[in-house]
Amino acid sequence: MVRFYLHAVVSLLVAALPLGLADVTSALSLSSSKWIWNSVTATAGAQVAQRKVLTPPLGKSLVAAEIIISSYINFQLYVNGDYIGTGNRPSFGHRFCVDLLPSYNVFAVNGSTTVSGSDDGGLVATILVTYTDGTTDTVVTDSSWRTMVPPPPEWETLCFDDTAWPAATVVGSYGVSPWQNVVVALPADPPVVTLTNAVWIWTSPVPAGGAVPVGSRAFRRTFIPDPNQVPASATIIMAADNEYTLYLNGVTVGSGSNWPDAQRYTINFASAPSELVLAVLATNAGGPAGVLMSMEINMVPRGRNNCTAGVFLTTDGLWKSTEGAIPAGFEQPDYDDSTWPAVGSQGAYGIAPWATLTITPVPTPVTI
Ligand SMILES: *[C@@H]1O[C@H](CO)[C@@H](O)[C@H](O)[C@H]1NC(C)=O
Ligand SMILES: *[C@@H]1O[C@H](CO)[C@@H](O)[C@H](O)[C@H]1NC(C)=O
Repeated sequence: MVRFYLHAVVSLLVAALPLGLADVTSALSLSSSKWIWNSVTATAGAQVAQRKVLTPPLGKSLVAAEIIISSYINFQLYVNGDYIGTGNRPSFGHRFCVDLLPSYNVFAVNGSTTVSGSDDGGLVATILVTYTDGTTDTVVTDSSWRTMVPPPPEWETLCFDDTAWPAATVVGSYGVSPWQNVVVALPADPPVVTLTNAVWIWTSPVPAGGAVPVGSRAFRRTFIPDPNQVPASATIIMAADNEYTLYLNGVTVGSGSNWPDAQRYTINFASAPSELVLAVLATNAGGPAGVLMSMEINMVPRGRNNCTAGVFLTTDGLWKSTEGAIPAGFEQPDYDDSTWPAVGSQGAYGIAPWATLTITPVPTPVTI
């Protein structure tokens, strides 16, 4: 089964929210949510749509929602027809804050099947809604959601009528069957980022047996926040075999020169950046070579500071690198890396020869 193969790369992560949370982070959890999907057999890559209509109890008016969400392959989230955001790795949850309409609201999510459609994907979410009187309710993914394959036109809009759609199939409870090993890390304030599930990367192809040429390589990853999400702060854990210098939006964040020691950086965004460009100059002094990074970005939803949104980024196949001479200005956000090939992946944090690293906080925050 495909999903058990995929699970081999997903290891356990303690995602519990820490005690003593800042006021802006509610203790949202997935523990009562179900993995839901569609039971129709479909081809690989087919779209599955899920909808949940939300109306308040008599006498109450809805104000806002805080959403934690993850999916087995990928998801796109819409609230009342507006595109909210996307994700593509089951072990990294996303956190969004949205305004709601007073009485009638629609959460709509689409995602892809892997192979055969039937229970071959999954969506899990918990939504905390707030009413005008300050009280709250929790909405979870379960069989009260409706599903359709393929999604008809305008299926994500507020006025679409889904009453003929079948109930979503409950694939299993979060943390139990069949995906008990998928622990979804949830962005929080304060941040919870670890190196779990980050991938050791190097220029592709990575030669077998660690026979990587000596020398320097440049790496880049561009991240565009979802609409209405403004980066406020970030935490980065970074290591490289043998040395690295890390840049974010052209600013030097820091460097390391001893691979068993990872550094943990705090970034404060004074500039409300609309994109984040990570650039790494890494040098191999001989033997195996690798770059490893994990980042939690905490977002302020535009126009609102009473709610935490966030996302994780790690080294993975979405990074790019080039071989040969290091191009001048490669660390600048506007450098054109469109011809750079994707990196090669060597396996998730914990693999030999690196095993477990020591993480040392760098005390002075970097302001960008
Ligand atoms: C659903 O997902 C695909 C990407 O896989 C996207 O292109 C599409 O626009 C999404 N949304 C809707 C409303 O169909
Ligand atoms: C959060 O703040 C915004 C604007 O500052 C306000 O409109 C909204 O009602 C608040 N939400 C909650 C849940 O208090």
